This record gives sequence, structure tokens and C-alpha cells, in this order.
Amino acid sequence: MTTCVDEISDGIFRISTFVPEVAAPAGFTFNQYLIVGDEPLLFHTGHRRLFPAVHEAVARVIKPERLRWISFGHVEADECGAMNLWLAAAPSAEIAHGAIGCDVSLSDLADRPPRVLADGEVIDLGGKRIRYIDTPHTPHGWDAGLLFEETTSTLLCGDLFTQAGQSKALTESDIVGPASEAEDLFGFSSLHPEMGATIRRLASLAPKTLALMHGPAFAGDACAAIDALADDYDRRTMAWREKNALAA
Ligand SMILES: [Fe+2]
Ligand SMILES: [Fe+2]
Repeated sequence: MTTCVDEISDGIFRISTFVPEVAAPAGFTFNQYLIVGDEPLLFHTGHRRLFPAVHEAVARVIKPERLRWISFGHVEADECGAMNLWLAAAPSAEIAHGAIGCDVSLSDLADRPPRVLADGEVIDLGGKRIRYIDTPHTPHGWDAGLLFEETTSTLLCGDLFTQAGQSKALTESDIVGPASEAEDLFGFSSLHPEMGATIRRLASLAPKTLALMHGPAFAGDACAAIDALADDYDRRTMAWREKNALAA
């Protein structure tokens, strides 16, 4: 198992570990994104057992103890399992997350009090600027949220567009088809009536790069991909409603 580091936008590094045993035979990637500013931020910590590999990967770019912010999409082991190991490794680091995640989980789980971010709130990292966006239950988790890095127009889109298999660091190839296949395979999303609209709203940020947690970073037509993913979830939600209306 090797962990790769690639710069996918100016000062944004994709740290990627391919695990063949997960979703075999295709395998599965687990990515973290390091945003390098005066106050570096790590989006997703990875599992606790990945901490040595991710720590070593971060050290290829910055001194890990410089890490100032830790953020992630929602509370799950691959998103934040190693958060307390990172809080110990980086004495100035703070966890930054939305109000639901902080109130429900992180105020108890995290070894230091988290910084609560309001929907739309910006943290100036010094040379980079991240905006927090609440996306409740999308793709899953009441506490779900995403980050948008404004200077590079990079949307750190967490579990959205999840795909199985090994991927290049950066691609312009289709990411919607593989995401729909992964949804068929895993059923990982909480289908709900607002889901399509929540995803579609992300296009208003006009992202240029989509940084997937489980897959490549995408440098093609990001707004079209977001619209197509939203359409796919609308189709799934409608099909579920029709199926259950017929069954009633
Ligand atoms: Fe997740
Ligand atoms: Fe994930």
C-alpha cells in the first residue's frame, strides 16, 4: 500500500492511498487534501490506522506540526478517525466543522474544542481562503458539509462523486458515470427530496476543480458534472417514490 502526493491545484495537494482489499476486486482510494497557506489545513484526516502514512505524506510538503486547521465532510472513520492523533501531532491545530457536527459529536469526540463554522463562513488561511458549506444528509450524515477554496476555485467535495477503483490524481474524464455505478454498488447516499437541489446549488460557486475523497480530482466542466450528479439523484429519488407509491 503506497500513499501518493500530487499538487492538483496551486498549493492544494491530494494525498491518496489505494486499498485493494476495500470494494475488491476494484479496490478503493482514500484521499486527504492539504491546503498550504500561512495556516495550513488538512481536509479529511484518514483512518487512525492510516495516520503514519498520511503524516509522512504531509511531511513531504510541510512540517506536520505546522498544521493549523483540520476539517472534514462528516463524522466517519475515513473522514476523521485520526483527528486526535493530528491534534496531538500539531499543537496549534483546531478542528473546524459545522454546527451540527460540533454540537452532536465533535464537542465530545475531539480532544480540543472545535471551531464552529456557520454555513458560508470563510477562514482566511493566508494565501488561501476556505468557505464552509452545510450540505445536511448529502450525500450522508446530518452533519455533512463541504469546503470551497476560493483562490483556486477548488471544491473539496468529500464523498460526492465517490467511485471505486484506482484513479489518476487529476482527470478530465467522466466522473458522473463512475459515481452512479458506485451508488448502485454501495447505496451510500441518504436519498431525500432536497438532495438534488443541495448538490445543484454547489454549481453557483463556479468551481474549476472538484477534489473527490474517493476518486481523482476533476479538472473538466465541473458545473456540468455537478448538474448531472444532481439529476442522477433526482432520478433515484423519483424512482424510489414511484416504487413505494405503487407498493402502498
Ligand atoms: Fe462518508
Ligand atoms: Fe469518505
